[in-house]
Amino acid sequence: MKLCVALDLQSAKENLSIVEKLSGLDLWFKIGLRSFTRDGWEFVDQAKRISGAPIFLDLKLHDIPNTTADAALALADRGIEMFNIHASAGTKAMETTMNRLNALKHRPIVLAVTALTSLSKDEFAAIYNNPIEKTAIDMARSAHNAGLDGAVCSVYESAAIKSAISSRFLTLCPGVRFKGGGKDDQSRVAAPETARENGCDFIVMGRPILLSPDPRLAAAQALSA
Ligand code: C5P
Repeated sequence: MKLCVALDLQSAKENLSIVEKLSGLDLWFKIGLRSFTRDGWEFVDQAKRISGAPIFLDLKLHDIPNTTADAALALADRGIEMFNIHASAGTKAMETTMNRLNALKHRPIVLAVTALTSLSKDEFAAIYNNPIEKTAIDMARSAHNAGLDGAVCSVYESAAIKSAISSRFLTLCPGVRFKGGGKDDQSRVAAPETARENGCDFIVMGRPILLSPDPRLAAAQALSA
């Protein structure tokens, strides 16, 4: 199981200070929409230069097939290691993207976003006209059929997705908290040990590491779970 630290602090300077503190540990960094739209490629390149760690660019692409594939190729060209696409962009968008990426010598890992966890059951049903649990697995299955490598899901969905699809289909799971720690605004949290037991390939942790008095120790604790 790999650890992906979410660089969610308020400025590039603060995020880079965390990158320095964690430098040399065997982990990934997740750069999200806020940091990327504010700090751009310069920040991504600096984070990579300081740490040498692989980067998950969490931009959640969602557009027509040709545009999604063009954006994916641009991301691959910049050398990031992983990014994601909304499964609700459709099978054609995912297939077109993967066909074009597979023509490259090396391509990033591509994950599907299924159901945004911020959506309530009612909100989800209003958009997709279907229950959330079944639809999330159906979306993950179509992502797998389209050639994507895995899906973003909660720790508690990881085992169900793998058994419905394939044990090799990757799961990346946010909402991870140390035992006895706070939940922040996450609702269903799980400890790193539980994530490992549920077969998660990647766990994403932000605040429990970013706001720890000793971020390096906190990251090491997550890595040793
Ligand atoms: O601080 P915390 O550990 O809650 O950070 C989790 C990270 O994972 C944040 O960057 C958040 O945006 C992201 N994320 C999430 N839930 C999802 C998808 C992404 O918490 N379903």
